[in-house]
Amino acid sequence: MVILVAGAAGFIGSHLCKRLLATDTFKVIAVDNFEPYYSPSYKRLRFNHLCPNLEVHEFDLTNKKIVNDLFHDFKFDVCINLAATPGVRSSINEPYKYLHNNLNIHLNLIEATRLNQNKARMIFASSSSVYGEDNFLTKKAEDQQLSLPSSFYAYSKKSCEEISIMYAKSYDISTVALRFFTVYGPWGRPDMAYWSFTEKMLKDEELPLFNGGDMHRCFTHVDDIVSSIRKIAESDRSINNYEVINIGNTLSHSVNELVNEIAKSLNIRPKTKTLPKRSDEPLQIVPEMKKAKKMFDIEPMIDFKLGIKEFVNWYVRDFSELM
Ligand SMILES: NC(=O)c1ccc[n+]([C@@H]2O[C@H](COP(=O)([O-])OP(=O)(O)OC[C@H]3O[C@@H](n4cnc5c(N)ncnc54)[C@H](O)[C@@H]3O)[C@@H](O)[C@H]2O)c1
Repeated sequence: MVILVAGAAGFIGSHLCKRLLATDTFKVIAVDNFEPYYSPSYKRLRFNHLCPNLEVHEFDLTNKKIVNDLFHDFKFDVCINLAATPGVRSSINEPYKYLHNNLNIHLNLIEATRLNQNKARMIFASSSSVYGEDNFLTKKAEDQQLSLPSSFYAYSKKSCEEISIMYAKSYDISTVALRFFTVYGPWGRPDMAYWSFTEKMLKDEELPLFNGGDMHRCFTHVDDIVSSIRKIAESDRSINNYEVINIGNTLSHSVNELVNEIAKSLNIRPKTKTLPKRSDEPLQIVPEMKKAKKMFDIEPMIDFKLGIKEFVNWYVRDFSELM
């Protein structure tokens, strides 16, 4: 099976490539342009460490010709689109960049899928942020009406989902959109809270806690995410042309709990600073996971406390040594 992993040098992408290469089932074509949302040299280090025998094709996927040539040269069976500029907060300051990059990558990949004879199946990384601010007490189910997006990042993901629906209806392009919930783990993203809190605690700096840390998230370990993507890629289950599926842990934890777990692992008493709640981030967001379980037997399992401890150990021992 020939698989394109777009955004292969990213956090999820590099773990996914490693997982796909663990058996002989897949021929993996890895593409990434090492965009500088966070350190490109860290991305290289991570990819080389996790996938020492795989080459990354350094292409900008917003370039239509490059993407079409890629699909012409390799007859992909599955196209996994993880490539995007991530991050809710910085999208407020850079709307053009988010819309240009995230929409054009997705449109180019799906359009090339349409033009290609093989009609690769698409798997696309959407986000829990598409659920917006709406009623934080209820579990989020895939078929619920979405409220207005509260960031350009969320808007870009919602728009990509809509592009996929149009292509599925008009051209029979089969797409599974995966709404990921706060992914964490070793070799993670330096812009995310679990990383920056660990870094700040080790430097004895203050941690900024929005809404006093009373924000709740379903932290999902990257190993659970890549197992889910792999199951879907391998599945011969016939799906409707378009499916959207939540992939997240169903137990939510507050940011204060996150701080406590990191502090416990580091044996440090953290300094914190309370900031007001941000309008672009919901208080709590919990996935309904019935659909993932029913369709693909997907059920994220990795325990939050063990996962955070594993991340902190990785950061202190392995990462600090490498940098
Ligand atoms: N990590 C999370 O918590 C989370 C949650 C929800 C959704 N997602 C989505 O999952 C996907 C992967 O997330 P991640 O955490 O691994 O992010 P990441 O930033 O680590 O990975 C994205 C990769 O895409 C690449 N990329 C960006 N623009 C590109 C372009 N024009 N051409 C080629 N490559 C390009 C980047 O260089 C990067 O390596 C993203 O689409 C993200 O929006 C992530």
